[in-house]
Amino acid sequence: MKHLLKMLDLSTEEIFSLLNLADQLKYEQKHGIQHHRLKGKTLGMIFQKASTRTRVSFETGMYQLGGYALFLSSNDLQIGRGEPVQDTARVLSRYLDGIMIRTFEQKEVEDLAKYGSIPIINGLTDFCHPCQILADLMTIREFKGSFQGLKMCYVGDGNNMANSLIVGCLKVGMQVSVACPDGYHPDPAVLEFAKEYGDRFLLTSDVMEAAKNADVMITDVWASMGQEGEAKARQEVFAGTYQINRSLMETAKKDAMVLHCLPAHRGEEIAEDVFEAHADEIFEEAENRLHAQKAVLVKLMEK
Ligand code: CP
Ligand code: NVA
Repeated sequence: MKHLLKMLDLSTEEIFSLLNLADQLKYEQKHGIQHHRLKGKTLGMIFQKASTRTRVSFETGMYQLGGYALFLSSNDLQIGRGEPVQDTARVLSRYLDGIMIRTFEQKEVEDLAKYGSIPIINGLTDFCHPCQILADLMTIREFKGSFQGLKMCYVGDGNNMANSLIVGCLKVGMQVSVACPDGYHPDPAVLEFAKEYGDRFLLTSDVMEAAKNADVMITDVWASMGQEGEAKARQEVFAGTYQINRSLMETAKKDAMVLHCLPAHRGEEIAEDVFEAHADEIFEEAENRLHAQKAVLVKLMEK
């Protein structure tokens, strides 16, 4: 494993190896066991979109691993004024030991990896959010014990979260059902991948059908970063149907857990009472970003 660009690139073995290391690092962190496995290493963090969790968990994670993280806003970098990614990649490769990037186009992340010579980590693109899905899988295993026989249901926009959850959950052996409105389906490349899993994957516009007997219910915002201009039109399509609420939870298993990558829009994709009833799971998920990403950093940057 040289980079973390998208879930599609990871083998099942690589996912489990990352999750096991994440559990170990979480244990060490909780028990005050020092793990300076990246002493003297530097991570550059390029942000072309806003962030709370990704920014803080990567920076803190590098510090806990004995390394250093630099926050690089695209407003300050020459990349924001049009310096080509090929040149940025080759320059930053000479200063840093790794780059985390949050941006719009997946191609930009892939190009950084292509032209640079250091590990690249995708901290969210319009296409996917692999760091989030590793944390989600870690949280599911933590609460449920294993992935064996579990069904994950995603309700909402076929966005970066949907794309990554479909791939990640199928790869670890879960059954996956996704409810999206027509015109808001996951990426065709992801649907092509999911096809190989036969009846372990279902795409429908019917939320009740998708949620039936689910063990894990997941949703995300109706309008992602960069889609602010579409928010009103999307509201009209999604409102009243594509929401995790009490009645949808009754269709899922009694002990179903609920995850949300956050930030959440209460009353839109998730009802306030369901969010609060499952806050322990949702905030453990947010914490697990730290542990899962530290595992990614160690795997990619430890020599
Ligand atoms: N879930 C997530 O990536 O959060 P941020 O946008 O705050 O980083
Ligand atoms: N789909 C959301 C996820 C935020 C973590 C977005 O891209 O804005």
